[in-house]
Amino acid sequence: MSILFTAIKMYNLTKAFDFNNIKLMKGVLLCGGSGSRLLPLTSVTNKHLLPIGNKPMIFYSIDKFKEIDISDIMVVTGTEHLGDIVSLLGSGESNGVNFTYRVQDKPLGIAHAIGLTEDFVGKNEFLVILGDNIFEFNMVRIKKQFMDSIKSIIILNKNSEPHRFGVAEIKNNKLIKIVEKPKNPSSDLIVTGVYYYKPDIYAYIRKLVLSERNEYEITDLHNMLIADVKLDYIIEDSYWSDAGTFKTYFEVNKRYGKI
Ligand code: DAU
Repeated sequence: MSILFTAIKMYNLTKAFDFNNIKLMKGVLLCGGSGSRLLPLTSVTNKHLLPIGNKPMIFYSIDKFKEIDISDIMVVTGTEHLGDIVSLLGSGESNGVNFTYRVQDKPLGIAHAIGLTEDFVGKNEFLVILGDNIFEFNMVRIKKQFMDSIKSIIILNKNSEPHRFGVAEIKNNKLIKIVEKPKNPSSDLIVTGVYYYKPDIYAYIRKLVLSERNEYEITDLHNMLIADVKLDYIIEDSYWSDAGTFKTYFEVNKRYGKI
């Protein structure tokens, strides 16, 4: 009799716990680009290998993937310092993750770099982090909201220098459009380099054309998604900065530079 009870209990538990609901999320970490704003620091190394506090910049993003159990991570980078990145990260075993590497031959833009990850991502949902973004967002809460949504989600943050970033225009709580580095920003809400995507975005990347500065622009991709009601946003108040200019690189080092 007790065996029967145990069997019934186990059956009910399995039913209550919907295994189909557990979706695997992949990670994409972008470490390409030219790093020209940090020259000469970046003349012999990749920007994302520069130290912040007591560890290389790239480790901060890896920790954010780990916070939400993303262990399958593709690192995209240029040809120049690929060897150094692989020497540092290896297979990922020592970090409890699994790295795959993809080369972006030329820095043709963030959307181009994401396009290179299509085979790796497949039909999975995925998180993209720009490797020069340093932040303290609550990744678990955002992931939950993303899993409950049918749209891709970008994370916005207030910034005192919005003209340096993609700026979000919001009306009646609706995301209307994003303007890349506007001279006269319409708000101080900027688009951070933390993107939670559904795999349908690849079809849109294929439709992108090169911009005037010869890049496939992430902002063009987002505006196409907005037009098709496929992009949502979350405003995060916690700390965020890029570390790609001397000013911001110095500031993040001040914040994390304690031993
Ligand atoms: O940091 C957030 C901002 O990132 C957004 O607000 C902007 O909308 C977005 O365009 C981007 O602006 P940046 O001018 O800061 O992008 P940057 O060219 O510095 O590249 C940011 C990261 O993306 C960098 O860490 C490496 C990666 N990247 C960039 C390019 C152009 C690549 O992996 N490949 C590339 O071809």
